[in-house]
Amino acid sequence: MPGVDVILGTAGFGEHGRITTTAFAKEFLDTFTSAGHFVVDTAYVYPGGFQGESETFLGNLDASSLGIQIDTKVRSFENNSHTPESIAKSVEVQFKRLRVSKVRTLYLHCPDRCTPFVDTHRAMNDLFLAGKFERFGLSNFKANEVEIFVKMAQDNKWVRPTVYQGIYNMFSRLSEQELFSVLHQYHINFFAFSPLAVGFFSNVRRGQEPPAGSRFDPNTRQGQRSRERYFKESFFDAIERIDTVSAKYGVSNNSIALRWLKHHSQLTDGDAIILGASKIPQLKENLASLSEGVLPEEILNVINEIWDSIKNDAPAYAR
Ligand SMILES: NC(=O)c1ccc[n+]([C@@H]2O[C@H](COP(=O)([O-])OP(=O)(O)OC[C@H]3O[C@@H](n4cnc5c(N)ncnc54)[C@H](OP(=O)(O)O)[C@@H]3O)[C@@H](O)[C@H]2O)c1
Repeated sequence: MPGVDVILGTAGFGEHGRITTTAFAKEFLDTFTSAGHFVVDTAYVYPGGFQGESETFLGNLDASSLGIQIDTKVRSFENNSHTPESIAKSVEVQFKRLRVSKVRTLYLHCPDRCTPFVDTHRAMNDLFLAGKFERFGLSNFKANEVEIFVKMAQDNKWVRPTVYQGIYNMFSRLSEQELFSVLHQYHINFFAFSPLAVGFFSNVRRGQEPPAGSRFDPNTRQGQRSRERYFKESFFDAIERIDTVSAKYGVSNNSIALRWLKHHSQLTDGDAIILGASKIPQLKENLASLSEGVLPEEILNVINEIWDSIKNDAPAYAR
């Protein structure tokens, strides 16, 4: 069915993550599939720093036999992680964890600029020809790098990238400036991660410490990174403006964020929003927000004015 799709992010699955048992992870999958959605997003590296537990949980739950389609990302983030040998090894390990012989989407998680892209692309093409995945994905690449892969695909008749995964939310819109025109030109779908700015819209206020264990917990590496990205005066000013309009219209900030992405952002048919949640009520609330309609014009105007005031502080769309 055309429209913007919804995918369940599983970066929190794993003993060292936030959804720490397979029984709890199953609740997430059940809640998600009950709402009529069947694609999950994972990666070699999830949950961050503790490689593989998310994929292992999905494998233990035999997710693919529950009708769930899996998008995953090869081992990346290290120099030479995208040599043909490293990619083949990564996929072998991942498929064993996932207990699958193929996935829907196989992404390069971020650029490995030490390995020639042509070698990496040839390796991905070999895996595609061997039937290991249906869609070739790129994540966190720059627009001009996406064009390089498209051209290599054309020149060599190799599998072409058809999906790009990147950060996109009402406070992180830099992809609109140069990336989206490239994606549209080459018919590449965009799957948006961090749609709720890892909780910044609802869980953080100027001068208040978020609860221990939150995505902004300063005692975790992930929390420190999120604080560097979002704890900026311009962002705190911006969220106060969102608070004012959300109170006026009786809607939550997260509902505004998700409905903006679904109905008013530059996402189009075939694109997707990747939901992250650490609690079942959060997931239910987010799914409910996504079933709601368009936003009032006053809220849209505020979102656009805010973007003008924060764009210089916004996170880069690529690594
Ligand atoms: N390709 C990449 O490099 C990349 C990078 C990041 C993410 N991803 C993918 O995208 C998925 C989603 O990303 P994300 O986790 O950053 O998404 P997100 O939706 O921006 O953040 C999720 C966090 O927001 C908070 N939250 C969610 N719903 C809430 C609600 N209704 N009320 C209050 N707080 C709520 C929770 O924080 P607390 O847990 O603190 O309550 C939750 O952990 C990941 O699981 C992963 O699959 C990919």
